[in-house]
Amino acid sequence: MGKDVIVACDFSSKEEVLSFLDKFEGRKPYVKIGMELFYGAGPEIVKEIKKRGHKIFLDLKLHDIPNTVKKAMSVLSNLDVDMCNLHASGTVSMMEAAIEGLTRADGTRPLLIAVTQLTSTSQERMTEDLLINEPLDKVVMHYAQNAKKAGLDGVVCSPLEAEKVHSVCGNEFLTVTPGVRFADGDVGDQVRVTTPQRAKEIGSDYIVVGRPITAAADPVAAYERCVKEFVD
Ligand code: C5P
Repeated sequence: MGKDVIVACDFSSKEEVLSFLDKFEGRKPYVKIGMELFYGAGPEIVKEIKKRGHKIFLDLKLHDIPNTVKKAMSVLSNLDVDMCNLHASGTVSMMEAAIEGLTRADGTRPLLIAVTQLTSTSQERMTEDLLINEPLDKVVMHYAQNAKKAGLDGVVCSPLEAEKVHSVCGNEFLTVTPGVRFADGDVGDQVRVTTPQRAKEIGSDYIVVGRPITAAADPVAAYERCVKEFVD
């Protein structure tokens, strides 16, 4: 599986995202579409960006009863996205149903990645709000193993967890990692950050990079810098 840089296109309108992508001219970066853009611009935005030749990670983090997730995944699969995701806390049955829904008549399907515990959830909140009385790290690895058992392709995690996920679930199990910053860049609201080069050394399969590219004075140069550090 080739390493790639996924650009988190956290814009709220079709116009903004398309004018951002226009800057790349011949280049076709892998694009992440999140809830904000999808709920604002609708499924048409996925079709439009796909038509322009980009791969798409549709980051909608599904979590519902297995039958509902299966049917929703079937709709997303028909949009021809390349990667989508769900919450592993929906159980192994829900994840298995998701795979069924995603699989097209010809046997192909987008990659399916699980969110384990959100990086915004602390040990304290997990224990007190969710009543999960295990160390956070153990819960993350257990959810990753559940995702693997259900037939998923990998997890979203911090680059700092990628090595451990690979040691528990195998090197083929994908780690998709946000929280990436250039060594000389702004950290912003991210807490545990890693440079693209370090993410490569640790073994991330895909890095998800938003503001270091979208808010850069020269987004194309920032993207090329990520590719050079992470992929080349
Ligand atoms: O701008 P920045 O590089 O921080 O963007 C990171 C992207 O990855 C955002 O779209 C954010 O929602 C997403 N993400 C994250 N941490 C997670 C899961 C997703 O930063 N644990």
